[in-house]
Amino acid sequence: MKKLNLWVTVAATLVIGSGLVFASDDEKGERGHKYEHSYYDVAPVNNAQYKEECGSCHMAFQPGFLPARSWDKLMSGLEDHFGESAEMDAVDQKVLTNYLKENAADHSNYKKSRSFNRSVARNAAPLRISEVRYFIKEHDELSRRMVQDNPEVKSFSKCEACHQSAEQGSYDEYQVYIPGYGRWDD
Ligand code: HEC
Ligand code: HEC
Repeated sequence: MKKLNLWVTVAATLVIGSGLVFASDDEKGERGHKYEHSYYDVAPVNNAQYKEECGSCHMAFQPGFLPARSWDKLMSGLEDHFGESAEMDAVDQKVLTNYLKENAADHSNYKKSRSFNRSVARNAAPLRISEVRYFIKEHDELSRRMVQDNPEVKSFSKCEACHQSAEQGSYDEYQVYIPGYGRWDD
């Protein structure tokens, strides 16, 4: 009987132990282990109100691209939002701020969110995804002609112009298509 108990303990330890090994593999994803989510993904937007209110002028950006402190700052300055007014009533503003912060890059376990979050200094609160260091690094091979001077793109803010599955939260490098230039492969 004693012996059986011991084996149960050993078996349980092995099961729990291998769970821990998998968890830490996930952390070390860069080395080609399996990811909990695809390496290229951020959590898709799953809030209809956010999609409607924040997706009317541009794509509803996934909250997982900026840390919570950035969303706080952005949401408290909607009267001058990149030169436009994106004001809304106080209740909606509160609800959407909560949604953004709860799903922010520093609260997400998606690989891409962690990469974005890691590249923002702790005392910084950038308002643009396209100003985050990790973003700049990933896009540094693009020329002005492909982006700012490209009539079908114009700005890095227009993620979905090049990332065919941007709205679904997928930024797979194999699904990039630059309007007027074609498929991106490097
Ligand atoms: C009235 C139109 C309008 C609405 C509504 C609006 N935005 Fe914007 N937003 C803009 C403009 C204009 C820009 C700058 C785009 C550019 O530089 O090409 C922008 C840029 C942004 C950027 C920076 C994108 C980048 O370059 O990385 C973020 C983040 C953003 N908006 C979030 C939001 C959120 C969150 C909401 C909802 C609370 C919202 N926006 C609602 C007009 C709007
Ligand atoms: C002008 C086209 C264009 C626009 C606009 C654009 N991207 Fe990209 N993006 C690219 C290209 C090209 C790459 C690099 C693919 C590669 O070779 O790795 C890239 C890479 C990325 C990656 C890294 C993918 C990886 O390899 O891990 C992310 C994440 C990303 N973009 C997010 C965004 C977001 C978010 C926006 C909008 C705020 C945006 N991009 C706007 C073209 C664009």
